[in-house]
Amino acid sequence: MRKIPCLAFAAIISALFFVAPVSFASQGESQGKAVFEKKCGSCHGLDKARSKKKNEKEWLATVERMKKKGASLNDEETSAVVEYLTKNYGKK
Ligand code: HEC
Repeated sequence: MRKIPCLAFAAIISALFFVAPVSFASQGESQGKAVFEKKCGSCHGLDKARSKKKNEKEWLATVERMKKKGASLNDEETSAVVEYLTKNYGKK
């Protein structure tokens, strides 16, 4: 009987260890991905961007151009999405 609370405690601790690194370490990137999927697929497909390879400067210029067309991203979302795009769809 005494084992049950112990197991529950262990489960909570291990859950923390599994969840914490994911939500802290890659917050910037997962935010960038979320912004990208939410804001960049409304006028054209996400593949429009996914099929491109650009460096950071070029992605920033692209995102700024999209903002002029009507994409609504604040500064934080802009840098998150540029970071995500540069990392995943950057020039090798
Ligand atoms: C308000 C509508 C709209 C939104 C929102 C939008 N785009 Fe676009 N996008 C366009 C239009 C229109 C074109 C085609 C004309 C052009 O290339 O200027 C385009 C073209 C593109 C291209 C191909 C041209 C190039 O420069 O490589 C890429 C890549 C792109 N968009 C990425 C994005 C990204 C990333 C986002 C999110 C930050 C985004 N778009 C959000 C309207 C939009």
